[in-house]
Parts: sequence; C-alpha cells; structure tokens
Amino acid sequence: MKAFRILAAGLAGLSLAAMAHAEGGAAAHPHEPEGGWPFDGITGQFDMPSLQRGYQVYREVCSSCHSMKLMSYRNLGEPGGPFYDPDYPNPNDNPFVKALAADVEIQSPTPNEVGDYDFRPAMPADQFRSPYANVNAARAANNGAAPPDLSVIVKARHGGASYVYSLLSGYPHEDAISTREVTPAAVTTPASDNGTPDDPSDDVAEVSTPAEMQTIIDMSKVDIAGHEAAEGEHGDAGLLIQPAGQYYNPYMAGDTTPQYIGDPRRSPPGGFLAMGPQLTPGRVTFADGTEATTEQMAHDVAQFLAWASEPKQITRKSLGLPVMIYLGILSVLLWFSYKRIWRKVEH
Ligand code: HEC
Repeated sequence: MKAFRILAAGLAGLSLAAMAHAEGGAAAHPHEPEGGWPFDGITGQFDMPSLQRGYQVYREVCSSCHSMKLMSYRNLGEPGGPFYDPDYPNPNDNPFVKALAADVEIQSPTPNEVGDYDFRPAMPADQFRSPYANVNAARAANNGAAPPDLSVIVKARHGGASYVYSLLSGYPHEDAISTREVTPAAVTTPASDNGTPDDPSDDVAEVSTPAEMQTIIDMSKVDIAGHEAAEGEHGDAGLLIQPAGQYYNPYMAGDTTPQYIGDPRRSPPGGFLAMGPQLTPGRVTFADGTEATTEQMAHDVAQFLAWASEPKQITRKSLGLPVMIYLGILSVLLWFSYKRIWRKVEH
C-alpha cells in the first residue's frame, strides 16, 4: 500500500513536471551556433581565443548592467581560464590579469581616514565590479526589471549557453520593427451602443477612442530557427505590438498572445523582456581582429559565461576521463581475481 502511494505521488510529480515543461515550450527552442560548442561532450574543451573575446564583450557591453558576483579578476588567470599563463601559476602575479583588473575602477571596500569610500583601480583579488549599488537601483535604472547576475546564468537557464546565444542573437532585425497608427479593437464596437439606430451618442463613443501610435513587429520578417511559419501565419494581420520599454524576443519565456493582432491561436513563440538588443554589429572591436558580427559576439560571450558557470570544467574533464578508464580496467581485474579466489568454493 505504501509502495503504491509512493508510486502514485511519483507519477503525479512527473505529470506536474511535464505540464511545467509544456508551459515553457511557448518560447522558441534555443539553438547552438553553427558548428556547435567546442566544450560539448566528455572531451570537449573551451576555445581560449573565444573566451578572451567573450570577456571583452562582457566587459565592454554587459557589465554596464549585469554583475558577476561569483567572479574575481584573478579567476581569469587560473588554469583553464581565458588568460592563464603557465609562467604565472599564481594569477595575482600575472601582469596581464593585473592590467585587466586595473582597467576597472571599483569602490574600495574599506573606508579612508575621513570615513568615505574612495574609488581605486581593481586588483586581481577583487570581485568583478557590480554596476549598481543594490537591486533597487538596478530595477530603477531598467524599467523595473533588475538585470540578473550572470555568474551562473548558463546553469540557471534551460538550454544553457545555446539559450544565451539564441537570446542575444535572436532579436528581430530593425527592418521588421516600425511605428504606426493602430486602431484599438475596442473602437470598432461603440461602448455606448444602446440599440437605437442613429443614436448620436454612438458616434461620440467612436470618436473618443483614437487610434494610437504603436511599435509593431512584422513577424514575416523575423527569422526564428526551427520555427516554420505556416502559410499566412504572420501575414498583414499577424503583427505584434511592442509594449513601451519591453522588447520582443522569440527565445524569452513568456506569452505573446495579448500583444498579437491576429489569430490568438497562432501567436508567435517567445515573450517580452526589459533588455533591448545589445550586440549590434561592430559594437566591440576585437583585439584579435575577429569581425564583430552579432552572432560572433553572442557566441563568444555565451562561451565566456559557460566557462564562468563552471570554471573548473577543463580540469574536471582532463581528470575525469583517465579516472573512468582506470576504474574500468580495475573492475575487469577485480572480476578475474574474484573468479580465481572463489574457484574452489561451491556458491
Ligand atoms: C542596458 C542594460 C543591459 C545590458 C547592457 C545588458 N543587459 Fe542583459 N538584461 C538587462 C535587463 C534589464 C534584464 C532583465 C530583463 C527582464 O527580466 O525583463 C536582462 C536580462 C538578461 C538575461 C536573462 C534573460 C532571462 O532568461 O531571464 C540574460 C541571459 C542577459 N540579460 C544577458 C546579457 C548579456 C550576455 C549582455 C551583454 C552582451 C547583456 N545582457 C547586456 C539589461 C541589460
């Protein structure tokens, strides 16, 4: 009986989980960059030049809104990190890491002799600088939505690095966005229609709900990987109103139905978020001369965030595989010695 109850509870839990998953399915499925991730699989490793560019993108673009509180500058120069140099096993001595840190001004954690907090160049031991003093300041500056800390964002979101990549490179192109006059649906049904034909108050109701200027996204111009728009699905009627201060992204979890002019059953995947498109082509100038396309920057910063979420991944993999092979050989040896030791005993 007890076993049955446990089984029933387990099944109920599973079906709830399945429902939650179906709910999240409203967003487009995140996809990998072309060629996949170099760090995938049990022998995959991070691509160091890409991690270095990724840090540059974080530093020059994302760090003005997003903190990474679990990272210190010295982590960048640790084994497996983007700026590791075997000549400096202690990253605090690595001149390049020192220079990267010193490039950022942080508020000193200890007060000076008159009790104020000075600003000083960061040192390798310092935490990555946080752009806002606290979460309320972050909210106030970003339309009410605080930018989440990015230290472990790749572990915290379904789809991991592919999600970050898809989100950042998946905003509709600006050609698809226009501002035009939209007549709210309510206007077509006069509010005060009392059934009397030619009642002058009907006309008054119609005039008092004016057309509004709205930002609209032409969905036929938005390319969503893996989402085939059905014939006529996003035709002229299939437009999307973008709420002020909110940006449409097909990979963001959410629901576009209330914003969609057209058949609500065919509303496009995705949702709205308070972060606008960040990685416009050429937003950074890569030190290594790589062309800064939107996809390239999204790829590099997503890989950098994947490394930040698990900085010991390279060590884990390079140690893990030999250990697995060793354990495999050991099990075979143990099996044969067991057979040999017990060979004369009936069992
Ligand atoms: C101008 C400020 C700003 C900049 C610059 C910025 N973001 Fe954001 N970001 C935000 C805000 C605000 C949110 C929260 C949006 C929301 O929840 O509506 C956010 C949310 C996110 C999310 C989480 C989305 C989710 O699933 O909840 C990720 C991932 C992200 N940003 C990555 C980045 C990366 C990577 C960069 C640098 C390329 C970047 N952001 C640059 C403001 C910014």
